[in-house]
Amino acid sequence: MRDIVDPSVRTATPADAGVVLVLARELAITFVTERRAFRDSYRQLLAASDTDLLVVDVGGVVRGYLLGFSHHSLIANGQVSWVEEVAVAAEFRRHGLGARLMADFERRARDRGSRFIALATTRAHAFYEAMGYSDHASYFRKLL
Ligand SMILES: CC(C)(COP(=O)(O)OP(=O)(O)OC[C@H]1O[C@@H](n2cnc3c(N)ncnc32)[C@H](O)[C@@H]1OP(=O)(O)O)[C@@H](O)C(=O)NCCC(=O)NCCS
Repeated sequence: MRDIVDPSVRTATPADAGVVLVLARELAITFVTERRAFRDSYRQLLAASDTDLLVVDVGGVVRGYLLGFSHHSLIANGQVSWVEEVAVAAEFRRHGLGARLMADFERRARDRGSRFIALATTRAHAFYEAMGYSDHASYFRKLL
């Protein structure tokens, strides 16, 4: 069992790109994440005002990240937020780092006036249920 000393969640910086790329590649199933496309998206996401790109730092090393978006809706009487990606390094799982990332995103979503947080998952039902999320809808997609 690893000792996890004082993890902290913060907004990602340009310097975190390399380690976030490694984590994103571990998360990706459908796509092989290409470095150049990743770098371009990473730069744009850091600059986007509707986006939270968060990392969890353990002893000065990034061990997980979360990418989430918040936007206005017409029916929810405010904004709504979506978790797009969340990943923790395999050897650091089950130490509460994913929970820290989710809690920080939830706080930011509340501060933005969001009425709910939603997400799609194929592999992490137990994690999201432990975080208080419930299965509410089916996820459809079409690859372009
Ligand atoms: C999903 C993921 C981000 C969770 O991160 P994590 O740091 O391991 O999660 P936490 O330690 O904060 O888990 C909090 C709680 O969620 C539940 N949980 C987490 N992972 C679980 C698992 N594999 N099986 C059952 N319950 C799990 C547990 O109740 C856990 O609390 P506990 O360890 O005290 O029992 C991580 O497992 C991961 O990166 N998985 C691969 C990528 C992925 O599937 N991402 C989600 C895509 S939608």
